[in-house]
Amino acid sequence: FSLKNHNTFGVDVSAKYFAEVSSFEELRETLNYSKSQALPTLFLGGGSNILFTKDYEGLVIQLNLKGISEEVLNEEEVLVTAKAGENWHEFVQYCLAKNYGGLENLSLIPGNVGTSPMQNIGAYGTEIKDTFDSCQVLNLETLEMEEFDREKCRFGYRDSIFKQEGRGKYVIVEVTFKLTIKDHVIKTEYGAIQNELKKMGVQNPTIQDVSKAVIHIRQSKLPDPKVIGNAGSFFKNPSIPLSQFLEVQKQHPEIPHYPNGDLVKVPAGWLIEQCGWKGRQIGNVASHELQALVIVNKTGSATGKEIFDFSAMIIDSVKEKFGIELEREVNII
Ligand code: EPU
Repeated sequence: FSLKNHNTFGVDVSAKYFAEVSSFEELRETLNYSKSQALPTLFLGGGSNILFTKDYEGLVIQLNLKGISEEVLNEEEVLVTAKAGENWHEFVQYCLAKNYGGLENLSLIPGNVGTSPMQNIGAYGTEIKDTFDSCQVLNLETLEMEEFDREKCRFGYRDSIFKQEGRGKYVIVEVTFKLTIKDHVIKTEYGAIQNELKKMGVQNPTIQDVSKAVIHIRQSKLPDPKVIGNAGSFFKNPSIPLSQFLEVQKQHPEIPHYPNGDLVKVPAGWLIEQCGWKGRQIGNVASHELQALVIVNKTGSATGKEIFDFSAMIIDSVKEKFGIELEREVNII
């Protein structure tokens, strides 16, 4: 079964078996089957944060669970629950249409609701942990449902329990967010949003304006995976000890940086650009010409291995020039 249309890199690999499930029951049945056959199993949401480097010799389960429900808590807050297979951006737009606030800065992020807690998706000053209430997960060992609240998810920068000790142990089937009904908190600290709102001629932005600004910014520099294969940022932004940062800054006084507790966060996109990778193409793969942190399947016929090797070259050259080790953000299979 070809997975080309099931990963946003558009890599042409295949799965030995493929199943699409649209209810909890179907999911349980499918898992019972894969257990009885001792098949390796992989769950796919939107396929927007994954790189297949070879064919998958097992069962790929596409989670198609759909549905959104709401529970008003009080005059200020509402709980909105979406099933794993809901498209993230459509879910954000649904909330904005109802004037529910909290997710607007996360507009246009590719992928599905069910995978959003895995890497604690974030952009433009917010992360889902800020509005996350809880998620329902299926324990793959017991095939029982469990609830994870925010604390149990152990969210970090592009990180959660589901990427750490919980890896491969659970599948997220629905996620609940606590959103505002009124007195929305407008988050525009991010310079790019302020500039965009100015361009739009907006003085007192609504959550809908913030969403529009974010959409414009993303469209202006991030490639649309439907047009050119990619998985967003390929690497995390590294945080390094202050002493190491000061050494690097001596050589490169213009290095952008942000405090991060005891550490200093530096943008990976800048490091990669400084190494001459921005817009550079090798074979079918390139670093995006408008955002060096994004690796693209430039010709549409890149293999996963080619993309992986390209990312390894970037890691090596950043390490050599700055002594900083970049870490991949995309899941490598
Ligand atoms: N920069 C460069 N050259 C580049 C790209 C970036 O010099 O080619 C420098 C600039 O100094 C720029 C700074 O990096 O000011 C930050 O760039 P940007 O605002 O584009 O954000 P980012 O740190 O590169 C992160 C997220 C994005 C998210 C944006 C906006 C990670 C790994 N990436 O990127 O998330 O949209 O911030 O908040 O944290 C994703 O995860 O797929 C993703 C796109």
